[in-house]
Amino acid sequence: MDALEAIRSRRSVARLVEPAPDEADLRAILEAAACAPDHGKLRPFRFTVVRGEHADTFGAVLEEAYRDRCRDQGIEVLPAKAAKERSKLGRAPLVVVVSAVRPAEDSTIPWTEQLAACAAACQNALLAATALGYGSMWRTGEPCYDDRVKAALALAPEDAVVAFLYLGTVPEGVRPRAGCEPDLDGLVREWRA
Ligand SMILES: Cc1cc2nc3c(=O)[nH]c(=O)nc-3n(C[C@H](O)[C@H](O)[C@H](O)COP(=O)(O)O)c2cc1C
Repeated sequence: MDALEAIRSRRSVARLVEPAPDEADLRAILEAAACAPDHGKLRPFRFTVVRGEHADTFGAVLEEAYRDRCRDQGIEVLPAKAAKERSKLGRAPLVVVVSAVRPAEDSTIPWTEQLAACAAACQNALLAATALGYGSMWRTGEPCYDDRVKAALALAPEDAVVAFLYLGTVPEGVRPRAGCEPDLDGLVREWRA
């Protein structure tokens, strides 16, 4: 599959099944991610693979973090939401958490550019997964902004969780939406003095 075909055919699939990318394919996906444009070669991206029984343990972290957020905000814990937090990593057989680590204070490259590099890494990973025949989906949500979840990922509060990339195989009988038919109306201008 060439690059343009991967770009146009990539579609998010909400629930994915085994087989997950095998080790060789996972490596290819993560290498593609690490090829992202990266101002200053700071390599701000980190990739944390979560799968198997460890996804269940991480689900417990997500549920606990949700309960703590409710307590902090003085709001009621919703059992359905708690259960969703616990089970959400089960929506795919493998999840790559992409995070951005904040560099030293004196870095000349703005943090927003490092986040941009991480977003580019995410898209590279999704495209590589598509080219290798896997389904994928980029998700975020409140856990990304929760220091307790960051700590479980060995991140500092000032680091950022940019994506939970869900990877796996599109279930039989599920047909992802048709490829992207981009509408450029109103998006493109040609600058003139
Ligand atoms: C930074 C970012 C965060 C996202 N977070 C979520 C999310 O938490 N839940 C969700 O359903 N979609 C989320 N999306 C959108 C999906 O990944 C997807 O792009 C969207 O559903 C459109 O489908 P498509 O990728 O097939 O075009 C996010 C996208 C981006 C770029």
